Amino acid sequence: MRITVLGTGYVGLVTGACLAELGNDVICMDVDLKKIDGLKQGIIPFYEPGLESMVKRNCLADRLRFITDLSQQERPSEVYYVAVGTPSDEEGFADLQYVLAAVRMIGQHIDNYCVIVDKSTVPVGVADKVQAAVREELKNRGLDQLSFDVVSNPEFLKEGAAIEDFMKPDRLVVGYPTDKAKEVMSQLYAPIIRAHGGKILYMSVKDAEMSKYAVNAMLAARISFMNEMAMICEKLGVDVDNVRLGIGSDSRIGEKFLFPGCGYGGSCFPKDVKALVGMAKDQGIEPIILQAVETRNALQKHVLAEKVRRVLGNDLSGITIAVWGLAFKPETDDMREASSQVFIDDVIKAGARVRAYDPVAQNSARRTFPEHYFSSGHLQILDDQYAALEEAELLVILTEWKSFLYPNLTLLTSTLRQKIIIDGRNIYDPAEMQQHGFLYSGIGRGVSLD
Ligand SMILES: NC(=O)c1ccc[n+]([C@@H]2O[C@H](COP(=O)([O-])OP(=O)(O)OC[C@H]3O[C@@H](n4cnc5c(N)ncnc54)[C@H](O)[C@@H]3O)[C@@H](O)[C@H]2O)c1
Repeated sequence: MRITVLGTGYVGLVTGACLAELGNDVICMDVDLKKIDGLKQGIIPFYEPGLESMVKRNCLADRLRFITDLSQQERPSEVYYVAVGTPSDEEGFADLQYVLAAVRMIGQHIDNYCVIVDKSTVPVGVADKVQAAVREELKNRGLDQLSFDVVSNPEFLKEGAAIEDFMKPDRLVVGYPTDKAKEVMSQLYAPIIRAHGGKILYMSVKDAEMSKYAVNAMLAARISFMNEMAMICEKLGVDVDNVRLGIGSDSRIGEKFLFPGCGYGGSCFPKDVKALVGMAKDQGIEPIILQAVETRNALQKHVLAEKVRRVLGNDLSGITIAVWGLAFKPETDDMREASSQVFIDDVIKAGARVRAYDPVAQNSARRTFPEHYFSSGHLQILDDQYAALEEAELLVILTEWKSFLYPNLTLLTSTLRQKIIIDGRNIYDPAEMQQHGFLYSGIGRGVSLD
């Protein structure tokens, strides 16, 4: 099929590359000229395992091309994917300006029936707004009679495993308005279902839009629930990691997304929970659970700095802290809403200097933190995880990268000024760390620093 994908971010570029890999003729369009220039030269604007080789392979085969304006398309496509950002606006609602600008552009260029597929996460009812915006553009061109359909096909991929998730999804959710649109979507995804099984859940457009928010809210709720459990466990001398196993082996609950930590981040959970709160309030419903999920998460992001202050005192002037991990989770360089941002702000405000290491997020970190943190020497980003320990009083773990799982304890001992590890992701065994003489504090591991 001939497909155009609008937006070449984490979702759009993965969608475009995977659809090309499945044999489609794909054009990816983005308004960011620098990004498109780079992509034409094979430069992937973010880190995602396997994506670079897939993009290069499909560009070489001429199944994947990049443009900055739909007028550069040689001919119109049969399917237009919208995968632009939907960040929170000032009041926490989903900001729809990018979606509406993108679909207006579609309305300015199509001249045949096509399906517009909304992959961006958008509130319930946005497909109707998309429909109206495209219809208005067509009317301006005297094409009132041209038919098109707007489908909701929310994306559930996880950064760091995006290709695998796209190619072997647990399920695909497709909200469709007409049988014609349903047929197009079923043809499009037939190769994935044929190769890897899985299922397509067909439903109304609004049901599909809501499904995406409900999934993210449920996952965020599990994390916040476990974080609250962890806080209680810590005070009671209980190891939450054993409790996690006890909960997770109940088949009614399952073991995924039960890891307590220093708060969830990323581009989706925080903004999608906020947007769902907004949707509920708009309908006169007080979203008590969703608000509690957010509140617990906001508190959780300060827990590690509180632990540091409890060990080293409130005034951290003259203290250097080593940080391992800056990305919001492993296998990505995405720093949006990362817990590291809150932790580093907290300790720098208390006077500390930070020496941080992340295997892939160094460049995003340099773009994310304020320039004066670097120029004043309060924040240094190192290229070596052990170099980050030099002059540091203690080590704080913020992302559970694999390279942190089995550290060289001799090097840790000889380099850190004090043998203290604050572990925001519970990647170490408290008993083993204590055996090696470390003061070790994870999240809810039964050892309180009080
Ligand atoms: N990142 C994820 O893990 C993930 C997972 C599932 C769903 N989503 C949802 O998918 C959507 C995209 O997320 P993302 O992380 O890929 O965003 P992103 O910020 O990485 O990328 C968005 C891209 O859209 C481009 N863009 C903006 N306006 C445009 C326009 N008019 N035409 C063409 N391109 C335009 C931007 O330049 C940018 O490159 C969001 O709604 C998000 O909530 C994201």
